[in-house]
Amino acid sequence: MIPCPTVSAGETDPWLERWLPLVVERAAGQPVLELGCGGGRDSMVLSAAGLRVTGIDSSEELLTEARARVPSGTFYGGDIRDGFPDFTGFGAILASLVLHYFTWEETAGLVARLLVSMRPGGVLLVRVNSTGDHEYGASGHPEIAANYYLVDGKPKRFFDRDAMLRLFDGAWHWLHLEEQVIHRYQRPKVIWEAVLERPLAADADSASRSKPRLPPSHL
Ligand SMILES: C[S@@+](CC[C@H](N)C(=O)[O-])C[C@H]1O[C@@H](n2cnc3c(N)ncnc32)[C@H](O)[C@@H]1O
Repeated sequence: MIPCPTVSAGETDPWLERWLPLVVERAAGQPVLELGCGGGRDSMVLSAAGLRVTGIDSSEELLTEARARVPSGTFYGGDIRDGFPDFTGFGAILASLVLHYFTWEETAGLVARLLVSMRPGGVLLVRVNSTGDHEYGASGHPEIAANYYLVDGKPKRFFDRDAMLRLFDGAWHWLHLEEQVIHRYQRPKVIWEAVLERPLAADADSASRSKPRLPPSHL
């Protein structure tokens, strides 16, 4: 199991609130899939917005917390690399701080699987470590591969902008890409926050030409 410090709610890292209107719209009454839901801090925000949550995480200990926080949720234990719940109509999927532990091939495979799990017009909200995240392992650790380090014995990947663009190349529409400093842990942490859309069939050809929209204040 990869340790993830338990935090006491969303108030120090209220990233999800601004995306809730989009998530509610695109979920269209279906459950929201949350990969690596951990102790359910984001599940709780989704649930409070009236959304149903289907979470998956490899830590049974954290899942116990998630089930206590969101009794209405459906939570599965398992490794996301082994598959997702058997439903391909998700309108909204969250993968916050979980897609950065794996080899490039595994990560790309997960992203391809996410596309299949989502209906056209669905949105994917992703947060991953940035190469600027020096407080949490982006430098000074044994390198397994480019920007992939063994941090305290655990593999951790760090993304630069090109890696983000490469990971979601072609099949997705970019809605947003932003490098941010967040304050959920003791020290500031640098991440990428991305929002992507599975194009409608008629738009699929233009997905490869779409470029992320950068906010005016990105780092
Ligand atoms: C940094 S925490 C983020 C938790 C949650 N998304 C949040 O933001 O509070 C990373 C989570 O990913 C889970 N995780 C790591 N590797 C996993 C894997 N291969 N399959 C499923 N969950 C995994 C961990 O158990 C942990 O709950």
